Amino acid sequence: MQTVTIAGQHVPAIGMGSWNMGDDPLKENDEINAIHAGLDAGAKVIDTAEMYGSGNAETLVGKAIKNIARDQVYLISKVLPSNASKAKMEQSLDASLKRLGVDEVDLYLYHWRGGVPLSETVDELQRLTQAGKTKAWGISNFDIDDLKELWQLPNGSKAAANEDLYNLSSRGVEYSLLGWQKAHDLPFIAYSPVGAPDSLDSHLDEDKTIQTVAKRHQASIYQILLAWVIRQPQILAIPQSSNAKHAADNIHAGDISLTKDDLALLDKAFPAPTKKLPLDVL
Ligand SMILES: NC(=O)c1ccc[n+]([C@@H]2O[C@H](COP(=O)([O-])OP(=O)(O)OC[C@H]3O[C@@H](n4cnc5c(N)ncnc54)[C@H](OP(=O)(O)O)[C@@H]3O)[C@@H](O)[C@H]2O)c1
Repeated sequence: MQTVTIAGQHVPAIGMGSWNMGDDPLKENDEINAIHAGLDAGAKVIDTAEMYGSGNAETLVGKAIKNIARDQVYLISKVLPSNASKAKMEQSLDASLKRLGVDEVDLYLYHWRGGVPLSETVDELQRLTQAGKTKAWGISNFDIDDLKELWQLPNGSKAAANEDLYNLSSRGVEYSLLGWQKAHDLPFIAYSPVGAPDSLDSHLDEDKTIQTVAKRHQASIYQILLAWVIRQPQILAIPQSSNAKHAADNIHAGDISLTKDDLALLDKAFPAPTKKLPLDVL
């Protein structure tokens, strides 16, 4: 599978999300098994956040990686906008580290923009990085204007990645954002890469065109969706699954190369944007 380089660290281009995990004790075994299946299949990245289940997802991830060598996982967590201040961020990160059972995360993201001045948030993200509590910092749910504003700040261009919604039925970021990120060497992390079937009205899993492409590759629809998201360099997809077979299949999608003909067929059914669209968020 191709790799994505974030602040000098190379990670496989498909990782795992953790939203909605850790909330139900009856599902814990399945969820841990799914994370292990993904790691066994070659994944390294696990994306989580203090917001997910008010810490439950981080606790679940912590349990899942307890006996796994630290360098075998690349941990991403996120700070809530309400905690993204000089007064509160370090406490938030310390609590995340405790729940995850690690001394530092690999990437700490500002989850979405809130009321704290951006310069204060960036200064604190930078300070905590220098303090060794995260290897790098980044942002999430930033659109192109937010990134331009960020780049004006003294340490703004030290951001190591931006995480936004991106999947075949939500291609707005292709109009200008992806190009801007490429030009500024800012890796893109794609959330909801299979269309978050439980929460979005996407019905991608029933689409005939994707089914046709899936048949050509003897793959599942989900695998085609993931191969499509990572078809360009420096894009990391973080599908979430609580099912061990799905989780492993998702990682194996990194071995699928879509042909020009596949891409043309998918473009016809799901056209690229022809104008700037508002950033999709979940
Ligand atoms: N930064 C942000 O603001 C933000 C926002 C949203 C999400 N995220 C992150 O991105 C991650 C992924 O996004 P998401 O959870 O919204 O959506 P997603 O990964 O697009 O979709 C997750 C859903 O897809 C199903 N699924 C995944 N792989 C499958 C497969 N191979 N076969 C069948 N079903 C499959 C899962 O069900 P099963 O359990 O049955 O497999 C789950 O219900 C999140 O978990 C979170 O870490 C970040």
